[in-house]
Amino acid sequence: MVKIEPQPGIMEIELYEGGASHLEGLEKVIKLSSNENPFGPSPKAVQAYSQSGKALHRYPSTSHSDLRNAISKVLGLPSDQIICGVGSDEIISLLCQTFSGYGDEVIYTEHGFAMYKISALAAGANPVEVKETNRTADIRKIIDSCNENTKLIFIANPNNPTGTMISLEEIHQLSKEIPKQTLLVLDGAYAEYVDHYDGGAELVKICKNIIMIRTLSKIYGLGGMRVGWGFGPKEIIEALQRVRGPFNLSVPALRVAEEAIYDQNYIEECKEENNNTRDWLIERLRGLGLRCDASFTNFVLPQFENQSQAELCDTYLQSKGFIVRRVGSYNLPQFLRITVGDRKTCEQLLNVIEEFLAGQK
Ligand SMILES: Cc1ncc(COP(=O)(O)O)c(C=O)c1O
Repeated sequence: MVKIEPQPGIMEIELYEGGASHLEGLEKVIKLSSNENPFGPSPKAVQAYSQSGKALHRYPSTSHSDLRNAISKVLGLPSDQIICGVGSDEIISLLCQTFSGYGDEVIYTEHGFAMYKISALAAGANPVEVKETNRTADIRKIIDSCNENTKLIFIANPNNPTGTMISLEEIHQLSKEIPKQTLLVLDGAYAEYVDHYDGGAELVKICKNIIMIRTLSKIYGLGGMRVGWGFGPKEIIEALQRVRGPFNLSVPALRVAEEAIYDQNYIEECKEENNNTRDWLIERLRGLGLRCDASFTNFVLPQFENQSQAELCDTYLQSKGFIVRRVGSYNLPQFLRITVGDRKTCEQLLNVIEEFLAGQK
């Protein structure tokens, strides 16, 4: 008998779990589980949001030209090589749909962002997980895992949830050694937090096989608005544009994103505040005896003695109203990923972790 069945691969998808935002029985919680900017978006973006209410009866632009021009002017990138999406999640999905399918392979690394595997499976392709070295992408292992079926390689640089990154020299080397039919995707969701780093934009200009993707959900403080974008070779962007829904970004999303991009002073302030607090937080966590890699992002990843201690600490933090992220699904069960909050929040968080560890002795 004929049965209605999803395409192969679909039922292998494990549902993406977003960072929790509620705790049973607690009215007030401190959410440090989704790498959001604790200071929110630029006030200019919020103002644009209120004003966009006047145009809600109009369809949004299909070309996204104002937003692409804003990105182009501020970051010095040709606007016809930019595509905008409903978060960078949509760009990841478009990439898999456009460039991979049945029998193709999509590479991502051991502790790579969950949407790479999900989107590869949704496109009917085979996801291939490549080991990292010391929680950091390893280009030699990636090159060794490539074959004639490899269509896409995803690297978040810096990576979520490890916070580590590789150099632009290594990325350039990777782009030279991968097979001719393979597109390298550099996911710069946290690129703005890194000093002297353009997310790979200059490499995209000189390499035919790299696309960079970015988001407004992190330092821009616009996770709720759902805007991301990509910058790549013209032929790649033109192919993606054919698959993208014509009205994927709403009128408010486009207006808000444009204003947020123009307000780079705000982004600089957020970066400075985050990076100072993050480095201080890492030092303090190490002082409490927890191993913690240097982070290039807006989150930290303390390591506990084992999975059980990490989970007990998480439960203790929850009892005090703090929501952080367990990362067992990223093959990191003895770690907790903690978004950097404002200084006062981090002080309170440290006190709770210290109390927890004292109770363990
Ligand atoms: C590495 C990485 N890429 C992409 C995304 C997706 O971001 P968004 O779809 O909100 O733009 C995230 C979000 O957590 C991320 O950490």
